[in-house]
Amino acid sequence: MIITVALSDAPYNVHIGAGARRELATVVAAAAPRAKVAVFITTPSLRKQPWWDLTVPLASLVIEVPEGEAAKDMAVVARVCDDLARATVSRHDVIVAVGGGATTDVAGFIAAVYLRGVAVVHVSTTVAGQVDAAIGGKTAVNVPAGKNLVGAFHQPRAVICDLEMLTTLSERERRGGFGEVAKCWLLEQRPLEELDTASVEDFVAMAVALKATIVARDEFERTGERALLNYGHTLGHAIERLALAHDDDLLRHGEAVACGLAFAARLARDLGRVDESYVRYSDAVVAHFGLAIRPPVAFDVEEVLEVMARDKKAHHNLVFVLPGPDGFGSVTVDADDVRAAYRRYEEEVR
Ligand SMILES: NC(=O)c1ccc[n+]([C@@H]2O[C@H](COP(=O)([O-])OP(=O)(O)OC[C@H]3O[C@@H](n4cnc5c(N)ncnc54)[C@H](O)[C@@H]3O)[C@@H](O)[C@H]2O)c1
Repeated sequence: MIITVALSDAPYNVHIGAGARRELATVVAAAAPRAKVAVFITTPSLRKQPWWDLTVPLASLVIEVPEGEAAKDMAVVARVCDDLARATVSRHDVIVAVGGGATTDVAGFIAAVYLRGVAVVHVSTTVAGQVDAAIGGKTAVNVPAGKNLVGAFHQPRAVICDLEMLTTLSERERRGGFGEVAKCWLLEQRPLEELDTASVEDFVAMAVALKATIVARDEFERTGERALLNYGHTLGHAIERLALAHDDDLLRHGEAVACGLAFAARLARDLGRVDESYVRYSDAVVAHFGLAIRPPVAFDVEEVLEVMARDKKAHHNLVFVLPGPDGFGSVTVDADDVRAAYRRYEEEVR
């Protein structure tokens, strides 16, 4: 299945399916017709996976970056750029990022800055990466002051979402990725009954299609439409951050988003934007993916509010993407209403 991200100047295709990685040679040839070298950027463990049979009809070079989030570091960017320069990788060559969101984020950033921009193709290997991180051209690394604070918009030339590559994910990693799928299902207001018959391919395709449509309308996050993808993320990001103080593996991103979706549904209800049936529908969608709507530990409501207010996506107010009678939109909510809704949410999910 192919879904096009229909950007006016440089549209690109997302190839989805079991075994889609076998299209890499054709995809790379089309994405970078003048390339002589393909540089794979990946991690040591991913190179050893049984599905690593990636070939391209070009000279190829593999550069390893650390596993997961540790790759999103300026020192890694500097080292890889130096490796690229020493290997005389040119502007016409192509980077092929193979990994989850952390790997495609750092490889995408390297592709954005090396020689002021080279082509990149993402081969995304996690659920979260396939349905979110690999699409849309946002690239970033972290600095000590915060996550994703240094980055660039740099769209890939193509994305490959091979469902076979997801089979080696840990159960928790896989399940967490479905938090973003649940978000997309809710944003699309898809019926509950369709959940039981949908395949993983259907879920990935649904989420990719939604993100592709939104990115094509608001590539640089200027019209506010792209912010809709933050549904469930205002609270999600806050508790994800607060959970780090307990244990860095207490709450994964998708798990935090699942709680954020449950909270957003209740906040919308408490503000009179939706009725109780929406909360039941939302909770059932999240539960379908095996995700909990209750945080693993109780967070102090004042701390939650403080972190939400600091969230760069919240600007100066508490802004939530919420459902309402006219669909989803960004809504500025009074801190007292958020506080009351959070207390009620805690009681309901206890
Ligand atoms: N650019 C964007 O628009 C965007 C959107 C959402 C998230 N992100 C970023 O994505 C990152 C999170 O990405 P993620 O959830 O994909 O996690 P990840 O990239 O950190 O990967 C998690 C772990 O899974 C391993 N792994 C990856 N694929 C595997 C496979 N097929 N089999 C076995 N193990 C595998 C990785 O080595 C890593 O240890 C964050 O840094 C986040 O900021 C970016």
